[in-house]
Amino acid sequence: MRASAVASAVELVDQVIHGDARTTLRRLPPDSIHLAITSPPYNVGIRYAGYSDDRSYAAYRRWLKGVWRALHRALVPGGRFALNVAPTSIKNFRPIHHDLTRDVTEVGFGLRAEILWYKQTMGRRTAWGSWRSPSNPHVIPSWEYVLVFSKGPMKLEGDPAKADITAEEFQSFSDAFWHIPPERNRRGHPAPFPDELIRRLVKFYSYRTNVVLDMFGGTGTVAAVARKTGRHFLSIDSSREYCELALARLRATPVEAGVLAAPLPTKVLEMPAPSARGNSLRHGRKQARRELADRVAK
Ligand SMILES: C[S@@+](CC[C@H](N)C(=O)[O-])C[C@H]1O[C@@H](n2cnc3c(N)ncnc32)[C@H](O)[C@@H]1O
Repeated sequence: MRASAVASAVELVDQVIHGDARTTLRRLPPDSIHLAITSPPYNVGIRYAGYSDDRSYAAYRRWLKGVWRALHRALVPGGRFALNVAPTSIKNFRPIHHDLTRDVTEVGFGLRAEILWYKQTMGRRTAWGSWRSPSNPHVIPSWEYVLVFSKGPMKLEGDPAKADITAEEFQSFSDAFWHIPPERNRRGHPAPFPDELIRRLVKFYSYRTNVVLDMFGGTGTVAAVARKTGRHFLSIDSSREYCELALARLRATPVEAGVLAAPLPTKVLEMPAPSARGNSLRHGRKQARRELADRVAK
């Protein structure tokens, strides 16, 4: 099945899409997504299937800014965007969460929250820097951020009967320090989300039957949790292999009691960029010119 240039909302809900994040977002109907949760590639040289995670920092931010802009168009007024980002390494420290906050707000979002996801990963620590000496000691972050933004009004309209968060959950999640261990079951992917992180975001920030998107969907954690809790989902990834993993995972995930889930698609939806070859050649040349200019400017 191939999607047309601008697809209808019905055609794209509850799909795993093999495509580029920005191009696919541009083809979604405007004002159609209630909550986006994502973790982009961190540009730290991780080996994903079919993607180079190693651009100049300026080119990386420019690329992502195009994705944020396309997302802004696709969200409903009051729609939320939860962006998970890890602090950068001690070797090459950059305040990436500040930089991305600026980029996301520049395309029109309002910042509404900063959640600290505490992973407690210090057990595996080896790099102390100058051990027991002030000459050059290292601190290592054992947390990641979840930056939460809104498009337009901070309030998301919805049917109060479709809020499914309990009083205990609400009280607990409204403390912005979330202690959740990292995902141990990687399912063949280098950086999957833990289900619990997504479950909290989905319940806190959306109503049942809302549409929840991850445009860097990987193994489909956001899609699986959204479906399980009675939301519609949309998962986009540029790797066919990860899309297949996501679909298999969706098939294996039972829904919560009382949830009426839509049928799952029989296959991954192919959504190639229009005239993919011409685009990638043009993009490649433009990118090379920019990389060169960045290097010269350093
Ligand atoms: C940090 S991982 C996301 C993992 C995901 N949260 C999960 O739970 O499995 C980033 C993903 O972005 C995908 N990706 C990289 N470039 C992309 C692009 N241009 N469009 C869509 N997906 C892309 C990679 O294949 C990778 O799966």
